Amino acid sequence: MDYSRKISERLWNMPDKGELESHREETFIDDIIQKSHIEKELLSHLNEIKTVFDGGAGCGRFSILLAKHGCEVTHFDISQPMIDKAKELAEKEGVLDRITFVNGALESLEAFKDKSFDMVISFDAPVSYTYPNQEKVIGELVRICRKRIMISVSSRLGYLPYLANPIQKNQFILDENCDDPFVKWCIGNKADAVEAFRFNKDDVMKLWEEGLMGGDKEIAEYEKGGAPWCITYTFMPDELEEILKRYGVKNIQLAGPGAYARTLPNELLVKIMKDSNQRSDFLDFCHRYDSNPFVCGMGKDNLFAQGEL
Ligand SMILES: C[S@@+](CC[C@H](N)C(=O)[O-])C[C@H]1O[C@@H](n2cnc3c(N)ncnc32)[C@H](O)[C@@H]1O
Repeated sequence: MDYSRKISERLWNMPDKGELESHREETFIDDIIQKSHIEKELLSHLNEIKTVFDGGAGCGRFSILLAKHGCEVTHFDISQPMIDKAKELAEKEGVLDRITFVNGALESLEAFKDKSFDMVISFDAPVSYTYPNQEKVIGELVRICRKRIMISVSSRLGYLPYLANPIQKNQFILDENCDDPFVKWCIGNKADAVEAFRFNKDDVMKLWEEGLMGGDKEIAEYEKGGAPWCITYTFMPDELEEILKRYGVKNIQLAGPGAYARTLPNELLVKIMKDSNQRSDFLDFCHRYDSNPFVCGMGKDNLFAQGEL
């Protein structure tokens, strides 16, 4: 079995994963922006959509939303803790009966027939964690889709700035005083991260050319019993568009959620987020700006793509 899949399985099946992931929009502004962008796209494309496949659906951020809008959703994920959390949240929202939960890997979608679902979605990079099978997985997601596909994958142009910025997540902390362990880590490690940082052109060029985050170091950590971050394939916008086209997807639109917000400092982002009127206007404008194809590569983490069959 591929290391990517084994590493993903171990990482995402850590017992606290579901709980931690379900709080990301309370802690990080880039996550709020990204999820808000996806939500706006989903809700404006629900016409004639009755059945949905959500691949790597996590703790149900979008499977539950779509079930609340009347869709029958197959919630598919490699992690039982994520599925358990999603079930708990779906029950609270009263939509448990509209969601079928399936524990499985995106690399194995043979059980689903061609065109089984009106819409197929996969958000926040599950496809990128299937390296080296990412193209085949996109092909499979297209195969089981009847009308519309929406995915977001890791963005290479979006990740490259991280290699010159080990404190990139600090810009997006919503509340410095919250109890979230990752927020505490970002704040506690900031000074050391800056002190230890050296710009490394070889690393940047390697990511630019190969598109891969992680590799031998993660495999060695996994073999020692650790749970490293997933080996992640990052896509260029033209590459993702070409793959979707090759599998027959039409009217493809790309977007880069987070591109606008990247330009603002933390103090201003926090100020905007804490005022409900400004927040709503800001999220609307981010959606508009980030949907412009000329900025799609500079989304924060994710490259979003949608199209029709
Ligand atoms: C960052 S979370 C995104 C969750 C959700 N799609 C969202 O946008 O909120 C990534 C999810 O992908 C799942 N995942 C990772 N690798 C996978 C694989 N090979 N097959 C299926 N699911 C996978 C993880 O378990 C996790 O729930």
